Amino acid sequence: MTADTWWRTATVYQIYPRSFADSDGDGVGDLRGVISRLDHLVALGVGALWLSPVYPSPQDDNGYDISDYYDIDPMFGTLADFDELLREAHARGIRVVMDLVVNHTSDEHPWFVESRDPGSPKRDWYWWRPLPNNWGSRFSGPAWEFDDRSGEYYLHIFSRKQPDLNWENADLRQEIHRMMRWWLDRGVDGFRMDVINFISKPVGLPDAHLTDGTRYGDAEALYTNGPRLHDFLQEMHREVFAGREAVLLTVGETPGTSVDQARLLTDPSRRELDMIFQFDHVEIDQGRDKWDIRPLDLVALKRTFERWQHGLSDAGWNSLYWNNHDQPRIVSRWGDDTTYREESAKLLATVLHLHRGTPYVFQGEEIGMTNTRFRSIDDFADIQSRNYYTDAVTRRGEPADVVLDALRARSRDNGRTPMQWDDTENAGFSTGTPWLATNPNFVHINAAAQLHDPASVFAHYRALIALRRTEPLVTDGVFTLLLPDDPAIYAFTRTHAERGLLVLANFSSDAVAVPDGAMAGWPGSPLVIGNYPDSPPTLHRSVRLRPWESVVVRRGTG
Ligand code: GLC
Repeated sequence: MTADTWWRTATVYQIYPRSFADSDGDGVGDLRGVISRLDHLVALGVGALWLSPVYPSPQDDNGYDISDYYDIDPMFGTLADFDELLREAHARGIRVVMDLVVNHTSDEHPWFVESRDPGSPKRDWYWWRPLPNNWGSRFSGPAWEFDDRSGEYYLHIFSRKQPDLNWENADLRQEIHRMMRWWLDRGVDGFRMDVINFISKPVGLPDAHLTDGTRYGDAEALYTNGPRLHDFLQEMHREVFAGREAVLLTVGETPGTSVDQARLLTDPSRRELDMIFQFDHVEIDQGRDKWDIRPLDLVALKRTFERWQHGLSDAGWNSLYWNNHDQPRIVSRWGDDTTYREESAKLLATVLHLHRGTPYVFQGEEIGMTNTRFRSIDDFADIQSRNYYTDAVTRRGEPADVVLDALRARSRDNGRTPMQWDDTENAGFSTGTPWLATNPNFVHINAAAQLHDPASVFAHYRALIALRRTEPLVTDGVFTLLLPDDPAIYAFTRTHAERGLLVLANFSSDAVAVPDGAMAGWPGSPLVIGNYPDSPPTLHRSVRLRPWESVVVRRGTG
């Protein structure tokens, strides 16, 4: 990494192709749909797009179960379409980052099909055992499935159709490196690596600790950041990225990772990854698991960001996100998606984008899309949500309405409803029946209504993305958290010598007064970006923030 690495000033836009734009009316988004909407990304000003998986797949987990790493699923198009997408994106100055899912494959991948034969040379490419350990799957139930053909069990941390690859096997690793080089030679600009910190399993696959009343252990601590993770990533760097570092972006999805581990993973001198997606902030409002929902503790959220900002200030780099295809919509989660939807969507964007790191925008976030309405379990498509419901209601006898409420708030399907382009049928996403119902609020929340409106959520995102490209303080300014214990105000500065930015944000539906102490040296500073149409042009001596109001002001010139 050099100081001028492109992704330090760029924003990345995540496309979930199933739900983005459908060109052929089959109700599922596709690559030609993405091509037809590239100008939306240009208008927003992003530097790269990350494409969730488009490889051939039985779609048990919407493409995160890959059966061929060298092709495109016919549902999404062809390799020729993909090449055209690369050309069209590059012609617009937008880089393309592929999703790389190599902790596991589909059980229909030829490698696994061969591996089921105990005499096959690929037997060792997966985890086979005569008896399972007690690990639980992240998608409910045990992490082991018995295979009749083999007479043994195989490990699957996710669904039973997603068997885990055995990275201890050097032939397998070489095969993965070869595949990655193939995509880079084709022209892709980097990889978002799915649960990449699960690839090194602990020696002997020991049992996990069982808590009272549980049948399967929570083995996350055992299989995350395992003993050979850094070796595997450094080897991948040598074999795949060496010589191409300056142009590529590599971002690892790494649940359960501490700041110290992140420093090791992203310190450029160690040649592993450019940045990671950590989970501390998105797990702040959960108890024993993601379905056990707690109110947002803003103080804890601020402390978490502060820890990550400081921890990666001299080595490594942060990625910044509220949303992706696994998270509910942020404006429904931590904003106010009724009275103050626009204000809170803009505030949440402001706070995130003014931190140090590379921001990621998930499709629809830039127009303030919200969670949707699910009436019954039949409205959910996501395997994690459906498995959880079956497990909780049918096996454990938990009340269906309680379980459904948790799903409504947290299900990944909230992020997967079709992109809301305009107010025509199916929000302009498809002329057919969408694979997942469109959120009915598309009639008033849609891209067409916002594109030319300077007061829109879209315009606000565009302004933040542009600010990052032009204002070095956003990239490199020192982060200092103010008012750490204030329960409603999120305040911080980004400074360098005499220059600085101050961010003030009211995370509540009540007006609040900013304590004077936070503002020493700032009154009179000009406004850079506010989220109310009549934000004051300079900061007053005593500031009262309206509900969900945020302001960014500047000090110093140059
Ligand atoms: C990652 C993906 C998620 C998927 C899982 C298994 O967490 O983001 O969508 O279900 O890995 O591949």
